[in-house]
Formats: sequence, C-alpha cells, structure tokens
Amino acid sequence: MNDLLPAQAARYRRLVECVSAVLARYGYSELRTPVLERTELFVRTIGEVTDIVEKEMYTFRDELNGESLTLRPEGTAACVRAAIEHNLLYGTPQRLWYEGPMFRHERPQKGRYRQFHQVGCEAIGFAGPDIDAEQIVLCARLWRELGLTDISLELNSLGDAATRAAHRGRLVAYLEQHRDLLDEDALRRLHTNPLRILDTKNPAMQQMVAGAPKLVDMLDAESAAHFDGLRARLADAGVAFTLNPRLVRGLDYYNRTVFEWVTTRLGAQGTICAGGRYDGLVEQLGGRAAPACGFAMGLERILALIEGSTALREAPLPAAYVVHQGDAAARFAVEVAEGLRDRGHAVVVHGGGGKFAAQMKRADASGARYALIVGESELAERKVSLKPLRIPGEQQLLAPDAVAALLDEQH
Ligand code: HAM
Repeated sequence: MNDLLPAQAARYRRLVECVSAVLARYGYSELRTPVLERTELFVRTIGEVTDIVEKEMYTFRDELNGESLTLRPEGTAACVRAAIEHNLLYGTPQRLWYEGPMFRHERPQKGRYRQFHQVGCEAIGFAGPDIDAEQIVLCARLWRELGLTDISLELNSLGDAATRAAHRGRLVAYLEQHRDLLDEDALRRLHTNPLRILDTKNPAMQQMVAGAPKLVDMLDAESAAHFDGLRARLADAGVAFTLNPRLVRGLDYYNRTVFEWVTTRLGAQGTICAGGRYDGLVEQLGGRAAPACGFAMGLERILALIEGSTALREAPLPAAYVVHQGDAAARFAVEVAEGLRDRGHAVVVHGGGGKFAAQMKRADASGARYALIVGESELAERKVSLKPLRIPGEQQLLAPDAVAALLDEQH
C-alpha cells in the first residue's frame, strides 16, 4: 500500500479527470460506494474458488456487531448491490462509473499493489452487443487521448452457462488425459476451477493447454450471434483485436464477452484494463434480471505507462506569490490574495517570515508568474509591487484592482 506524494497525487487526479471526461461524453454517471462491504457479497459474486476470494481478501470481523466485512477487492459487486438497493434499475438502464481504492492481498511487485486504484464502468440493463462495443470503443478513445499507442485488445466469448458446463466436462476429461503434465496449481484447480488452468503462465504446460477444447468453438447460437455482432461493430469503429480463446478472467460472474487491454511495456503486470459481460449477476444478487457489461482499469498501471509523457495536462502553477514584511503588511497581503482568489486566481501567500531575499527565493521556487511585494512603502499607499518572475519586464507599483485586471487578462 503506497502513499501518493503531491506530484504523484496531482498526476492521479488529472488522470481521473481525463477518464471521467471521456466517460461523461458517453453518458456515464458517477456512483460512489463504501470501501467496506459484507464479505458474503464478494464470496457470492466473485466466486468461492477464485484466487481473490481464496487468498486475497482483507476480511475481518467487526467486533462491534460480529459481522464479517471485507475491504472491496473490486467494484462491480458493490455497484450492482447499490443499484439494486436504491432501485436504480426500474424502468431505465444505467450507465455508471466509479473510481477509488481496491484491496487485494497479493504479492506486491511493480504494477501490483495491495491497495490499488481503479476506474470502473458498468452498463446495467443492456442486452445487445452494441453496449459491449461502446465500452471497448470508449477505452480505445481514452488510450488515444492519453497518447498510449502500444496497447492491444484481447477478446473472447465464454458463452452461456450451459456452454460452459459442457465445455467444462470436455476440458476436465482432456486435462485428466494429460495429468502428468499438470503442475501443482493445475492439479488443485482440476476439479474446482479448470478454466483457470488455461490461463497458466507455466511454459511446460503451454503446448498441452493450446490443444485443449476451446469454449469459443462450442458457443450456443445466441452467444455466437452476440459475439459476431460485437466483432462487426468493432470493425465499424476500426478497433483491432486478437481473439484469445484462453482468455477466461479470474472472476466467476462473466458470461459471453470478456476482454482485456494489454501492453508488453509493464512486464508481467501488462493488463491495464479488463472486463466483460455479467448477465446473471443482478438477478443472482436479488434484483430483477438485467443483463450487464462493464470493465475496470488499473490506474497505477496506466500512470506507469504515461510516465514522462505530456499527455496529462500539467497542474496550473500559482499566478502570484505574495511576499511581505511586518504584521500590517502581512494582513494586507492576505486581503490582496483573497481578492485575487475571488476572481479564480491561484495565489500563495508567504508563510513563516524571513528576509525579503529569502522570501523571493521561495517565490521563484513556487513557479509563480509574479511576485507581489508588500513592504512599508507599498502598504502606505495600499498598493503592491508586481515583479514578473517568468517573463522579462519591469517591476511596477499597482493597486490591487490593477493586479487583478492584469491577471484576468492572462487567464
Ligand atoms: P480485474 O481484472 O480483477 O477486474 O481488475 C481490473 C484491472 O485492475 C486489472 O486489469 C488491473 O489493471 C487492475 N488491477 C487488478 N489488481 C491489481 C493490483 N493488485 N495492483 C494494481 N492493479 C491491479 C475487475 O476488477 C472487474 N471488476 C472488472 C469489471 C468491471 N468487469 C465487469 N465490470
């Protein structure tokens, strides 16, 4: 779990602003849910035999009432819970997004943290492939706006529950035939979560896994039509993808479309954004059945990718830094600064006293465009001396209104 120091926090905030601006252009509204939920919510939705639930959740007993609570490891379950609880789904489908910290007790490494941050997006109440395509196209737009070029899209369809059950039977039979090649992890998953074995990183199993029966070859007619519809829309939008029959995702609620945006630039943690369809989840959580689709992106990974690029607008530097000497001047300095802030300008008033020369050094270091100097002679006239710090120019004695007019002009 990491602290975000001011420069990093500023980048984080600008990234979220950029993502939320794109989401707003597609009609998504923000939803904020608590970081804690009842443990049961995640166990039921993400799935009992998934890595997240088996070994990554921060779960504890609330001693005050004996409830088992969990720090959210992801946002989809809470989003659906909230939509049901507040009757958001009656009549109108919802396009929602959220942002914030998620918690997973994983082995930390570059791009993988125990507290990380996601922006997630959930469209609930939409059945057609048009919404899957909308979300993928939205992501592609975001990567363009962030100047990210070397990211590729992997796509698969998991079909419906019956397809997955049929596939599971054939897959287990196939894996049983190749039992001697399975590693410890795979043996453990053979009967609990065999689909995840397809996701293995073990080089010794790659060839065997490549020959395993593929879900995408067994799709039911409706899922196949849905997948065709999605692919046609991605072609319309000019979004390229790779069909990856081994893409299965680590959470149990998915059906039909699943996708991941990946990069080779972040080593092992190359998935920057992932999601898919979860048509059964709303009903499973007690709501009236509503098909849905969503995704979430890891903000730390995206920030690592755009490090050093100018894609994120820089934080505005202060317009002015006010230096002053003496008690009366200090109070006049605050009055001038407040007047400028009323008009929307960022103004830093020197704090902590010191000689003018030392204060001017701070003014320079702040990045401000101007120093405003309030000494005895300025105070006597209720004016300030304005000294340009970033552009050539003479120092001038000005009334506060004139300073405001000058800053307004440059705003
Ligand atoms: P997920 O694949 O578990 O999906 O996570 C989505 C993204 O969060 C990952 O692709 C990655 O960028 C980031 N991420 C996950 N774990 C970590 C970590 N420990 N450190 C840093 N980044 C991480 C979900 O969470 C689903 N709720 C997505 C979704 C929304 N599906 C439908 N709607």
